[in-house]
Amino acid sequence: MLVLIDHANLKEIEALYDMYPYDGVTTNPTILKNEHKNPIQLLKDIRALLPSGCQLHAQVISDTTEGIMEEAHFMLNEIAEDMFIKVPVSSAGMKAIYLLKSEGVNVTATAIYTAMQAFMAGKAGARYAAPYVNRLDNMGADGVQVAADIHQMFRLHNMECDVLAASFKNSQQILNLCKKGVGAVTAAPEVLRALIQHDATFTAEENFENDFYSLVHEIKGIDLNRKHD
Ligand code: G3P
Repeated sequence: MLVLIDHANLKEIEALYDMYPYDGVTTNPTILKNEHKNPIQLLKDIRALLPSGCQLHAQVISDTTEGIMEEAHFMLNEIAEDMFIKVPVSSAGMKAIYLLKSEGVNVTATAIYTAMQAFMAGKAGARYAAPYVNRLDNMGADGVQVAADIHQMFRLHNMECDVLAASFKNSQQILNLCKKGVGAVTAAPEVLRALIQHDATFTAEENFENDFYSLVHEIKGIDLNRKHD
């Protein structure tokens, strides 16, 4: 399961990569807005930060197929030709997914709230389908189950599309999807950090360190080379 960073702050991305080899970065217009910078330059800067082989996903905003195609071509030319173009699964978006796929572009179908939307996006040629897990939970649906159902449908129909689950509030939602075998998740820095942290690990580490130094203190004066009877 790929694990990506759903964020656009350069310092945060750098700090996260300093601790762990994540698989890439996803953004959306809201995430970019939070940085108050020229979005194209920011995406270029994020791309430059990423180790080779890592993915960058950025979203179009047009609501017509022509507009989506124009924006996609602009981003591919300006930022990186191997980047993933995120396209919301509207009617115009579905047509754009099909057209972009026919040009060999990596497409992530996004803003997915139903399994059927994901299935149709996969059939149109999307490489990833991004269901919004926590937003679904907040609507009274079961976001993890929707994402798991989509994964199962993709495998059942031998489709070349994977779930890239997005919108997480906690690490348990990610763990549950990991158990279901989904292809990828993307989450905000605080959720990613919670995947690793556990107070019991910190306490165990501290106890081991204390025991070691206590042993060092105890053996001071003992000749370790002396043969004992
Ligand atoms: O790109 C979609 C995802 O980032 C949405 O997350 O936390 O705004 O629901 P959230």
